[in-house]
Amino acid sequence: MAFTVTSHGHATFSINTGEHKLVIDPFFAPNNPAADVDVSQVEADFILITHGHGDHVADAVELAKNTNATCICNHEIHEWLMKQGVEKVHPLHIGGGNNFDFGHLKLTIAHHGSMLPDGSNGGNPAGLLITLKNGQRIYIAGDTALTYDMKLIGEAGRLDLAVLPIGDNFTMGPDDALLAAKFCGARHVIPCHYNTWPLIEQDAQAFCDRLLIETGITATVLASGQSYQDEF
Ligand code: NI
Ligand code: MN
Repeated sequence: MAFTVTSHGHATFSINTGEHKLVIDPFFAPNNPAADVDVSQVEADFILITHGHGDHVADAVELAKNTNATCICNHEIHEWLMKQGVEKVHPLHIGGGNNFDFGHLKLTIAHHGSMLPDGSNGGNPAGLLITLKNGQRIYIAGDTALTYDMKLIGEAGRLDLAVLPIGDNFTMGPDDALLAAKFCGARHVIPCHYNTWPLIEQDAQAFCDRLLIETGITATVLASGQSYQDEF
């Protein structure tokens, strides 16, 4: 069974496993200037959150309440969501994983910040390592610098997809994202976290072309609303 990843602009994605709908870092229109949809149009069974910044959680509470989806995030964001009246929240922390209906999710190291929009402590930022029930692995790096620890992900097995930030300024830029793709052993890459604002303008297609030439790794630029289907 193949999975499908749909971009909603910036670093927000839906992953359809064929059985479940996962939403990564809910940030929709009008909050997200790059989004193709507003939160009322989005379906979710699980909401996965990498860190507390507004461009990753702005629509989390409303989406959780609309859909009754289970939110999965670090302990501090878990506490914050509960205070906002979200009832189904599962806390994890970095290095820890758990089995869910869609498969396994582990939080990985990310080097970044995580303060929540109201100033609450968002704990440490994380990446998401998803292992679907058929064994396919997806790495959502989250907002992060390049880290040598990304090699651990590749060493642990085949990685079907890595979603990597390329915007620079707040996260890795293209040069470091290229190394990240190599470190984590990605079979395919989707770049994210670029062009939403002038500070993070990048030529994503140029990144993908260069990645293929320099590493042999294929990549897909997804405009907001476009999907990538994994050919397993
Ligand atoms: Ni951030
Ligand atoms: Mn961000």
